[in-house]
Amino acid sequence: MSNNQADDPARRDFLGTVTAVVSGAGVAAACWPFIHSMNPTTDVLAQATTEVDLSQLPVSQAKTVAWQGKPVFIVHRTAEQIAAMDKTQGGKDPQADALRVQRKEWLIVVGICTHLGCVPNMNDTGWFCPCHGSKYDLSGRVVGGPAPRNLEVPPYHFVSDTKIVIGETQKG
Ligand code: FES
Repeated sequence: MSNNQADDPARRDFLGTVTAVVSGAGVAAACWPFIHSMNPTTDVLAQATTEVDLSQLPVSQAKTVAWQGKPVFIVHRTAEQIAAMDKTQGGKDPQADALRVQRKEWLIVVGICTHLGCVPNMNDTGWFCPCHGSKYDLSGRVVGGPAPRNLEVPPYHFVSDTKIVIGETQKG
């Protein structure tokens, strides 16, 4: 038996695998508390749809609601923010803002980073993901960092001017 086990190729491969698995678990552990904290109760998790009253959300304000256990960001955008988003297609996943909203003043996106699933933090220009530095604009489009895609737009529809249902598109 060799006295220097570090020279054993099989042992090196094993250590490499263990390191990769532990690293992956670390990322998952970092993401989970954010997502888990958004899960109010099991019965809410089971709901296919979430109804949201927008009447208490003034212009320039945002809030996060839970839909099927996921955070959904809702932003009541200002005229200036809408104009700024209209002028750009975003970054590596280009898309017109008009294709991402039903009503320009309301941005509704799933709040899960498309890189590895962390919950980004909102700032003046959009969102910043603390896990690996991805950035999203106020249309939820990725504009920096490793995230490959824009924030997902969930299915939703307006029941009235001040109420939406997330989880289903307009019927009929
Ligand atoms: Fe990696 Fe968001 S999870 S940048």
